[in-house]
Amino acid sequence: MSSSSSVPDYLRDDDLIQETRDLISSLPSEKGWLVSRMYQFQGRWHTEALLQGILNCQKDFEAQDSDIILVTNPKSGTTWLKALVFALINRQKFPVSSSSGNHPLLVTNPHLLVPFLEGVYYESPDFDFSELPSPRLMNTHISHLSLPESVKSSSCKIVYCCRNPKDMFVSLWHFGKKLAPEHTADYPLEKAVEAFCEGKFIGGPFWDHVLEYWYASRVNPNKVLFVTYEELKKQTGVEIKRIAEFLGCGSIEEEEVREIVKLCSFESLSSLEINREGKLPNGIETKAFFRKGEIGGWRDTLSESLAEKIDRTIEEKFRGSGLKLSC
Ligand code: A3P
Repeated sequence: MSSSSSVPDYLRDDDLIQETRDLISSLPSEKGWLVSRMYQFQGRWHTEALLQGILNCQKDFEAQDSDIILVTNPKSGTTWLKALVFALINRQKFPVSSSSGNHPLLVTNPHLLVPFLEGVYYESPDFDFSELPSPRLMNTHISHLSLPESVKSSSCKIVYCCRNPKDMFVSLWHFGKKLAPEHTADYPLEKAVEAFCEGKFIGGPFWDHVLEYWYASRVNPNKVLFVTYEELKKQTGVEIKRIAEFLGCGSIEEEEVREIVKLCSFESLSSLEINREGKLPNGIETKAFFRKGEIGGWRDTLSESLAEKIDRTIEEKFRGSGLKLSC
């Protein structure tokens, strides 16, 4: 499949199988912010290609009890979480000390170290997940409702990272402008906020995704760990230890925690050549995953009234859930 532009292959739709085309013709569809057309499947909006990836994943992915699956809404800290958990679970194999200059994260973008399930299932159907070293570490944006059955029935672990919606929206806004200018030109900020608040954008609605995993983490705390970008940012070390305990990673020295925090910090990762100059195989530039890495950066982009609109929407959707997100 061609990768000539900066659009990742899993956002293209040239490789659909007939069964998916039939399904797609029966789904609600709309022109969307960020994409020319999107389809509503199991409550969420997808491109045709991502939908194909999700369907393949639902059909073929066999979770193992030792698997670790990182789940996020896009632009919620996926790259960072991948780096942190990769460094954590591989700390015996790849010691994270400032003296060792050959840690994989220093020479490889986190997205290449941790496969993206539905992306791989669309772009590289021949990828052999059984060849990943154990424990297998993978990530997905798939909603809890749409997870492959084996993920739910096995004892694999899910780490879910949520980010405050205004920062997530703004991160997506800038990412979209860079990656898909042709599909954002007719979406001024106000219209994009409208789409976000209606839940009608690729991967939306935000709140269903968050709440499904929030409730799953309440019901089954040994299976799903709920962390937030904001807590990770404020107390990265504490959160690493919480993740380590949840994953049963054994004891971890304070010094190791400090080294992981440092290695995976925004400043450290974003300054590496691989993350400044590199490209993923699908053509996307690695620097697109590192912008500001701040809490509350939405203030530079959103007016008070647009921010309030998002706040009101989320407050209403989260009412009664017990979930409060700081921003
Ligand atoms: P901003 O656009 O607000 O800067 P994802 O990895 O899910 O695509 O999320 C990207 C967001 O995470 C971007 O947010 C990016 O800057 C931020 N990010 C990437 N690496 C980070 C890190 N090591 N620490 C904190 N934030 C990071």
